Amino acid sequence: MPRSAARPFARLIVLCGAAATAGACDPAASAQAQERSFPASVPVGGGGPHGTTPMTAQRRKMDELKIGIPGPPPGIDAAVWNAAVPEDNQPTQERIILGRALYTEPRLSADGTVACATCHDAVHGFIDRRPVAEGIGNNLGRRNTPTSMNASFMGVQFWDGRAGSLEAQALLPIVNPIEMGQPDGEAAVRAIAGDPAFEKMFRAAYGRGPNYMDMGRALASFERTLIFLDAPFDRFLRGDEDAMTPGAQRGWVLFNGKARCVACHPINAASPIGSDERFHNIGVSARHQNFDALSSKAIALLEENASPTAIDALALETDASELGRFLVTRSYADVGAFRTQQIRNVGITAPYMHDGSMMTLWDVMDHYNKGGEPNRFLDGGMEPLALDEGEMADVVEFMFALTDVRFARENQAEMARQREVARKQRPFRDDDMAFRRRLAFDGRQTR
Ligand code: HEC
Ligand code: HEC
Repeated sequence: MPRSAARPFARLIVLCGAAATAGACDPAASAQAQERSFPASVPVGGGGPHGTTPMTAQRRKMDELKIGIPGPPPGIDAAVWNAAVPEDNQPTQERIILGRALYTEPRLSADGTVACATCHDAVHGFIDRRPVAEGIGNNLGRRNTPTSMNASFMGVQFWDGRAGSLEAQALLPIVNPIEMGQPDGEAAVRAIAGDPAFEKMFRAAYGRGPNYMDMGRALASFERTLIFLDAPFDRFLRGDEDAMTPGAQRGWVLFNGKARCVACHPINAASPIGSDERFHNIGVSARHQNFDALSSKAIALLEENASPTAIDALALETDASELGRFLVTRSYADVGAFRTQQIRNVGITAPYMHDGSMMTLWDVMDHYNKGGEPNRFLDGGMEPLALDEGEMADVVEFMFALTDVRFARENQAEMARQREVARKQRPFRDDDMAFRRRLAFDGRQTR
């Protein structure tokens, strides 16, 4: 079969290619993105294919983490929990068991090497520690793997919100050409249908044999047990004043005040993961993009085909990835806008942002402190913060206090590692911008 027939969206893949609109793509930026994909600063190395932790070790870790239990964990507001669970897919024990088996099953991918857990590695806080994900055939995508911890509290899934539920989300990576690469859902079902263990688990969970839709339902049921909301911060809020260090406590005050984080990352009982679930252009990697050329090119492609799999391919395989929410709404207000990411467990989920461009939480602070990367679509909530070095360190310390206690050891190690990296390099730091000694459009005025 010719390659293009096997991969119907292959021709969408390279907006940088011969067919690219002039200026739609910056080859240097693309090369840079590829280079960033194997950073020395974030060790991967788990021993399994794609540098991930072998599935047996991951299942052991899952047992240790005590996930996979139906119902709301202690301390979680029942209303918040119920809102996250669809009526027609209540997570029973049988569904969760099936979902976990599927989650760690590489046979679901076209070449038998990639499972959900390959990229969402339980040992590393359900991420891959890479700037962008690597799927079958060592293919690199364009986006950073977000953690699947607490994803159930997100109303829409993906950085651009293109999937409306965990059920819908789970089916997309299986058929994405560069992630798990199955030609269609049926192929994934066939890969496990002959296995008596799966046959039995499907019947116990949904009363029928293996099928694609129930695969998505079971995966979602398992993901709804990945609740990680017991951090030093929560213990502090419940009245244990010693649970957070004095630095983290100062950081919490700054987060709600001078640093203005709370404007987009509200974190409270009704919003437990610290996201307003809205889409903002905060100027991540904006300087590499020609948003105008990219958006006209993307509109032409979407007019031909705007199916969920077509949008998925554009988001993961082309420069149009950087258009973010625009790919879903085709509204210019959404150019370069991404969903406010949760900040739960952020201490152990480096690198950061939709493109994995920031290696440490100090980089994240440097980005916000200078008011983000200027561009025509920048969110009005972004402006220089004039935080001094001590204040930025306090906000960083606060963010490390948002990691669930089950990952306390990893969090400690990661804080030390990031501090060391940040001591040597602060590529996003710009004090002149942060303290308004230079304004974003100064260069333009003098030209
Ligand atoms: C090749 C690596 C890879 C594989 C395999 C993979 N994912 Fe992902 N996952 C990603 C990336 C990258 C994203 C973000 C893509 C985007 O937003 O455009 C993501 C996003 C998600 C999200 C959304 C989280 C959020 O914050 O919005 C969930 C949930 C998820 N994946 C679950 C799964 C499940 C379930 C499977 C298996 C069926 C799976 N993933 C397989 C890399 C992977
Ligand atoms: C205008 C809204 C807005 C404000 C203000 C804001 N954020 Fe964000 N935050 C976002 C969005 C949107 C993203 C995802 C952006 C992307 O990937 O392109 C994000 C991403 C992040 C991430 C990366 C998470 C990850 O897993 O990759 C961290 C950490 C973060 N924000 C912390 C902060 C802190 C700390 C502050 C205050 C200094 C802050 N944010 C202020 C909207 C905002």
